[in-house]
Amino acid sequence: MLKTDDDQLKAAQAENTRLNIQEYLDRRELLASTPQRLFLQVNAPCNADCLFCSKGYDYPVFDFADYESGIGRKLEPVLTRAREVVLSGSGELLGLPEAERLLGYFNERFPHVDKFIATNASHPNRRVWELIAESGSRYTLQLSLHSSDAASHGLMTRRGFHDQVMENVRYLAAQRRKGGNPALNLMFIMTTLNVEKLPDFVRFGAELGVDRIQAGYFYVYEAQQKFLSLFFKQDLANRMIDEARTVAENLGVKVDLPPKFRGPGAAAPAAGGSSDPCPEPWHQAMVNPGGRILPCDVYGDFPESLAEKDFDAIWNGPAYRELRRKAAAGQGCFLTCPRQNPAAIDRWESHVIRRHKEDRLILKEYHEAMRRP
Ligand SMILES: C[S@@+](CC[C@H](N)C(=O)[O-])C[C@H]1O[C@@H](n2cnc3c(N)ncnc32)[C@H](O)[C@@H]1O
Ligand code: SF4
Repeated sequence: MLKTDDDQLKAAQAENTRLNIQEYLDRRELLASTPQRLFLQVNAPCNADCLFCSKGYDYPVFDFADYESGIGRKLEPVLTRAREVVLSGSGELLGLPEAERLLGYFNERFPHVDKFIATNASHPNRRVWELIAESGSRYTLQLSLHSSDAASHGLMTRRGFHDQVMENVRYLAAQRRKGGNPALNLMFIMTTLNVEKLPDFVRFGAELGVDRIQAGYFYVYEAQQKFLSLFFKQDLANRMIDEARTVAENLGVKVDLPPKFRGPGAAAPAAGGSSDPCPEPWHQAMVNPGGRILPCDVYGDFPESLAEKDFDAIWNGPAYRELRRKAAAGQGCFLTCPRQNPAAIDRWESHVIRRHKEDRLILKEYHEAMRRP
């Protein structure tokens, strides 16, 4: 028999997760389950200016009161059943004046949901790190460092806070060893300027004792960033991926590395009949602060918003059902997906994020190209 509210929440969550997995395995278009993972975009100012960053410069900053009375209310039942909530978005949410309140809100309302936060790990406010490490909730922190040495970390972030980052990262690793919280993932976005540091980054992660090291290709959001793409240095990318994998095997640390380039003459991306389609249209949804819904971070335009509909109407609406139908057939966005389709990696389109661009944005890109760091 169920004893507490917490037991009931956990039971409902486990049942939703089980059903969600089954509905993916059955390739259902209409789902009785809700997503087991919800990405909430919490946009904040950033104290860094990473060379490769996708964030742009004119986004609205997260407002907790707006969230609580608006999309937060619509999402509450979905979040209650979710297995994991990913708090990410443009900028550094842990640097928000409301960061402590935000963490408190998710800890109290959704204690049974795993929380995942991406951060550049630079914040000097120790209280924020303590709230994450000490909370009864389980956190995973993605520490986006992109290099372990001061010079290339400074090159990537265009900031000189390497010492503070290392102090925080070592504190978090010590907390992880002591109390098990938070789990730590080190993130390395691979560009032409830092990829040669990847094997050393794996050594650094092993020495720290992190849970895993993740590397992923840089995607071009703004035209002037394009020469950071390893599409232009494919042999080098492949060599570094091999070397990083060998280092990880020798040191016994978990590493997620992207697929290698296959070179000229490789077969075109496969379509149709995939026995293992991309699970993201079944397992997750991303929500931006205005309520816009996206199936994943590399998806193009998706015409759905919580400003106009309730979550269930979107989750089982025509756009999601078509997406699931195409995904089950290994078609649609799967053909150029850099994460789910290893064969797509040889196509330039897979390295470029092409959301709808208005004239205003094209002009904005021009001004950004002229900016000074
Ligand atoms: C936009 S950041 C925001 C959170 C936090 N500031 C951070 O750096 O982790 C979220 C993640 O997206 C990654 N990212 C940013 N721009 C990217 C790009 N152009 N291609 C691939 N990943 C990118 C970052 O490295 C980070 O891991
Ligand atoms: S720290 Fe994150 S949001 Fe800030 S510039 Fe770097 S990648 Fe972008």
